[in-house]
Amino acid sequence: TYVIAQPCVDVMDRSCIEECPVDCIYEGGRMLYIQPDECVDCGACEPVCPVEAIYYEDDLPQQWSDYTRVNAEFFTGLGSPGGAAKTGPLAVDHPVVAALPPQPA
Ligand code: F3S
Ligand code: F3S
Repeated sequence: TYVIAQPCVDVMDRSCIEECPVDCIYEGGRMLYIQPDECVDCGACEPVCPVEAIYYEDDLPQQWSDYTRVNAEFFTGLGSPGGAAKTGPLAVDHPVVAALPPQPA
């Protein structure tokens, strides 16, 4: 799966949403999250992010290695909604993200 990492926090450019063929990029309160079971690894989102927040999971920089778990755990309880258009913005965040000071730090 692809993963959105910390550079998205408080930036939320949203260019990535337009590129995703399966609409698996969901909006939280302070960042967006990729649903790992819905992502088909097409990679279209990665180059359009202006702050380089998106990585293939194996290529995540070490300092953001937590974000594979952060993206996955965001969907605990939500499961696999089958498209972000169905849920709309969710206005909540993973606890790791909620605890961050205002970004960019
Ligand atoms: Fe965030 Fe980049 Fe998408 S800032 S919303 S991952 S385009
Ligand atoms: Fe969508 Fe990016 Fe995955 S465009 S399918 S979230 S690699």
